[in-house]
Amino acid sequence: MYGRKNPVVALALLVLVSLIGFVSAERSAGCGKNPTIQSKQYTINVNNKQRQYFVKLPDRYNKDYAHRLIFTWHQLGGSAQKIVNGEDPNRGGVIPYYGLNAIANNTAIFVVPNGLNNGWGNQGGEDVTFFDQLVKVIEADLCVETSLRFSTGFSYGGAMSYAVACARPKMVRAIAVISGSLLSGCSGGNDPVAYYGQHGTSDSVLNVSGGRQLRDRFVRNNGCTAVSPEPQPNGQNSVKTVYKNCKEGYPVTWVIHRGDHNPSQTDAGSSTPFAPKNTWEFFTQFAPQ
Ligand SMILES: *[C@@H]1O[C@H](CO)[C@@H](O)[C@H](O)[C@H]1NC(C)=O
Ligand SMILES: *[C@@H]1O[C@H](CO)[C@@H](O)[C@H](O)[C@H]1NC(C)=O
Repeated sequence: MYGRKNPVVALALLVLVSLIGFVSAERSAGCGKNPTIQSKQYTINVNNKQRQYFVKLPDRYNKDYAHRLIFTWHQLGGSAQKIVNGEDPNRGGVIPYYGLNAIANNTAIFVVPNGLNNGWGNQGGEDVTFFDQLVKVIEADLCVETSLRFSTGFSYGGAMSYAVACARPKMVRAIAVISGSLLSGCSGGNDPVAYYGQHGTSDSVLNVSGGRQLRDRFVRNNGCTAVSPEPQPNGQNSVKTVYKNCKEGYPVTWVIHRGDHNPSQTDAGSSTPFAPKNTWEFFTQFAPQ
């Protein structure tokens, strides 16, 4: 009896830890409202520039359900339209919404911003300001769980997700960086954010060291124990490393694979890209708080 953990005390501690672990649960002002935003393209003025973005609502949008809000940023030379439509994954293309809409089962709202010059130079932080304004506009109209905002992207889109995590750590619960590098800056960058990273050792566009550097900032910020030597792929298969001893609520997961610069990398013998499932699992480990 005395040697055992008391389950009530354990549960109370768990609840306490999760309460102090992150910002509290909050439903956006748009909850309960009949939405004016639809699944289509919009334009917004950001620092006197006209910026385009798409919104994708779930089928049969429920105005009383507090949805996850997921930002999906495109690669250099890509576009918001290409994220919405998808491209042939067998030719290195992205699948629609990085494959997340297909598995979200109507629990998420997607935001798909379009970059200036098809990229995310984030001059003077203007793309982070774009993010800020989109959060405001969308959450005023749609029902979002504001402790469950996420960001992901491939290549430049991964760099942009990283820039958001650096500059707006309290606004995103987790990010997923697919084959990213330091291209959109990192203003701030001293606070923890749950981090999923994925990179190929044969990446011929943004080398794997760059991807590891981004990861390592959040390994440090999240208080995780560094892993040495560097994890390597297992033949043609990816290897997933879940970092240990991270602060409660701030995990880091790293997937290393043998491939090139490819958002739709698969494991040997599989035709299903692993990024979508990995990202979705990473994002949905968090409950509203
Ligand atoms: C999708 O969500 C609906 C409604 O919550 C649920 O009944 C259904 O089982 C879910 N489907 C999958 C594949 O998770
Ligand atoms: C990786 O790319 C960065 C940025 O282009 C470069 O500075 C660095 O030398 C490269 N590292 C390796 C190991 O190729």
